[in-house]
Amino acid sequence: MDSPLDEYTGKATMEKITSLAKRRGFVFQSSEIYGGQNGAWDYGPLGIELKNRIAGAWWKEMTQLHDNIVGLDAAILMHPRTWEASGHVENFTDPLVDCKQCKSRFRADMIPEDKLAAKICPDCGGGLTDTRKFNLMFKTNIGPAEDTASIIYLRPETAQGIYVNYKNIIQSNRMKIPFGIAQIGKAFRNEIVTKNFIFRTCEFEQMEMQYFVKPGADEECFNEWRKRRWAYYEKLGVKMDHLRWHQHGPDELAHYAKDAYDIQYLFPMGWRELEGVHNRTDYDLGRHTQYSGKDMQYIDQDNNNERYIPYIIETSAGLTRNVLMILCDAYDEEQVADKGNDDDWRTVLRFHPTLAPITVAVLPLMKKDGLAELAQDIRTELKEDYSTDYDQSGAIGRRYRRQDEAGTPFCITVDYQSKEDGTVTLRFRDSMEQIRVPRAELAARLKQEIKTYKRIK
Ligand code: GAP
Repeated sequence: MDSPLDEYTGKATMEKITSLAKRRGFVFQSSEIYGGQNGAWDYGPLGIELKNRIAGAWWKEMTQLHDNIVGLDAAILMHPRTWEASGHVENFTDPLVDCKQCKSRFRADMIPEDKLAAKICPDCGGGLTDTRKFNLMFKTNIGPAEDTASIIYLRPETAQGIYVNYKNIIQSNRMKIPFGIAQIGKAFRNEIVTKNFIFRTCEFEQMEMQYFVKPGADEECFNEWRKRRWAYYEKLGVKMDHLRWHQHGPDELAHYAKDAYDIQYLFPMGWRELEGVHNRTDYDLGRHTQYSGKDMQYIDQDNNNERYIPYIIETSAGLTRNVLMILCDAYDEEQVADKGNDDDWRTVLRFHPTLAPITVAVLPLMKKDGLAELAQDIRTELKEDYSTDYDQSGAIGRRYRRQDEAGTPFCITVDYQSKEDGTVTLRFRDSMEQIRVPRAELAARLKQEIKTYKRIK
């Protein structure tokens, strides 16, 4: 195993990632023409492709590759009792302090201890208010009346939609313990501090899987899921020395957790949580039994109808946070020539080909002499299996740079020789190597290259 790095040594900065994301249509500020909306971001043409591919990789890993894990897409709006039962109404809070002088607002646990104890603002030195609890759930009203009876919450985690459906799924799909339910969807938190681009936002997406086990089998299962989630990132081609485990101490554990480990990633701003693996015990199903009055016990028909409330092992990853991780992980800058020109340098996103928003770009060397038509024809042929792009404007070197910056792993160039002997140039993003390939072999060659892809830098 690669040992984790001490500090970030990569080429990315949050400024560079944010600016590239906007320039190339990965992510835009929400409502930008009105000055932007804090904590919300829009995913552009390349961003939605990347996000969908990350979600697809996770979904395949967590459902398709397991015989006993099924999917769900539950509603964002849930009965408000759900959040009383889950403990979120009471416990899902951050400690908040305000500066009386500069009016800045802070999460108390993010202020240096000495400043907090002396109630001194870390920004301006003014006086701080007492710490108060601030609930992170967004509250709204359902129906026309804005009274307490109409209060409804935007879900702060997708997990509860799974718990309230667990019996439905046992019945409809004849699931037997141990089994899992996976879900990808939006979650909302009224975060006090939103910074670092899409790292911590008020509206985000989660990829969560809840695994139901017999009490007593939970600890072994918890360790098993830790191993699997680690191996998943390795398979995705993530730099493994940028990942490490962090076990939650007693003061960090969520109200539902008996044990919890975060997978942290070394972002340009330092080590931060990417995903959590939690042993949630029988807390959630026990509380739903209590609050709904419904029996949430599992009946083990293979074992004399033994009844118990299952323990739950949860793997919970941020999808939008994974997008940021993959962007940072892929980001590279390198000198490709030394002629003293600006374009001696290239910015390249070294996405794994299965995650790249565009898999292959087709570029005619010239627009004339039938090359554009031939290139379009090749693109049409590849479209069925790959996400493609077509670019005929500007010098070929510039076009390669544009594709490098979008993270396109393969470019196909159509030139005069293509008309004569039916071959095209296949260019590899990472090595910039170019080879000639007969057109008829392109699809098979790409398939092979994707399957055997190994990141070289
Ligand atoms: N169901 C358990 C749960 O929600 P969590 O540690 O609060 O646990 C899980 O969140 C993951 O969701 C985090 O590891 C992170 O990737 C993502 N996440 C949480 N809050 C987020 C936010 N405000 N913005 C973006 N992603 C967030």
